[in-house]
Amino acid sequence: MLRRLHNEQPESFEFTAANLEWAQAQVTKYPVGRQASAIIPLLFRAQEQEGWLSKPAIEYVADMLEMPYIRALEVATFYFMFHLAPVGSVAHIQICGTTSCMICGAEDLMKVCKDKIAPYPHEVSADGKFSWEEVECLGACANAPMAQIGKDYYEDLTQEGLGKLIDEMAGGARPVPGSQSGRFASEAANGATALTEIDCDRSERNAAQGLALSQDDYLKSIDGTEVPLRTPWQSTGQRRPIGVMGTERPKSAVQQAAEKNEPRPAAGKSVDKTGVTEQEAEAVEKGNPEGKSVPAGAGSDADKS
Ligand code: FES
Repeated sequence: MLRRLHNEQPESFEFTAANLEWAQAQVTKYPVGRQASAIIPLLFRAQEQEGWLSKPAIEYVADMLEMPYIRALEVATFYFMFHLAPVGSVAHIQICGTTSCMICGAEDLMKVCKDKIAPYPHEVSADGKFSWEEVECLGACANAPMAQIGKDYYEDLTQEGLGKLIDEMAGGARPVPGSQSGRFASEAANGATALTEIDCDRSERNAAQGLALSQDDYLKSIDGTEVPLRTPWQSTGQRRPIGVMGTERPKSAVQQAAEKNEPRPAAGKSVDKTGVTEQEAEAVEKGNPEGKSVPAGAGSDADKS
């Protein structure tokens, strides 16, 4: 499926102060010069803040990680978890349509979405609150059929149940994620048949639900204030922030090589605007084993130059 940026884009993007602090902390998890490794969590946080991933958001993250825009765009357009078009302001409902969910009624759920939200996937409802799409297996097959909203799963859904959920969300309620039939986790629908000796109060919320409730980070825009920042290494001074959040950027391996006047990589030339460097190598004859003659007309690269 071809994934493109949306034809209407906002003017700009900025992380909230708390999200910016969170993003800066994520970058410090990676070795100096490898801050681009933080691209996926940062893009995802931008999406959690805005609901979808706009071009300014992608470029903002690329600037923050000092990456060429094209590299960040490649990541954003490759992974389906990134929404490249505006979604409903309350919820973007991702219905799993793979085997277990399909057998258990995914098509009925999609009919509810078509009736209550919009006839086509990725279309925002008339009131701007909802959108939906069909996705591939989300790994909760034992509790099929299910849907993902944000990073939470709503499982054991029925046609009526999903309709009620949408109505509740439209009215401002925040239904608790997890099984909607009262199942504790992914035990058999009519009760656990294994590990029954484990002392566990199955009338309570399971761990995932408990976490979502305690952190209050479900069915809402994530602004970074939900959970305290946990990056203990920062207080030890072992790592310094880099990129836009630091004053001094450590030199990359490429820059260090260029300073030493080494021919590789890129011979000290900076990347062009597409992010490509021209790799140079000295022409050294090493390809022919000793004792073998060079075929007629097949001189080394050095000979040709
Ligand atoms: S088939 Fe729907 S979660 Fe796996």
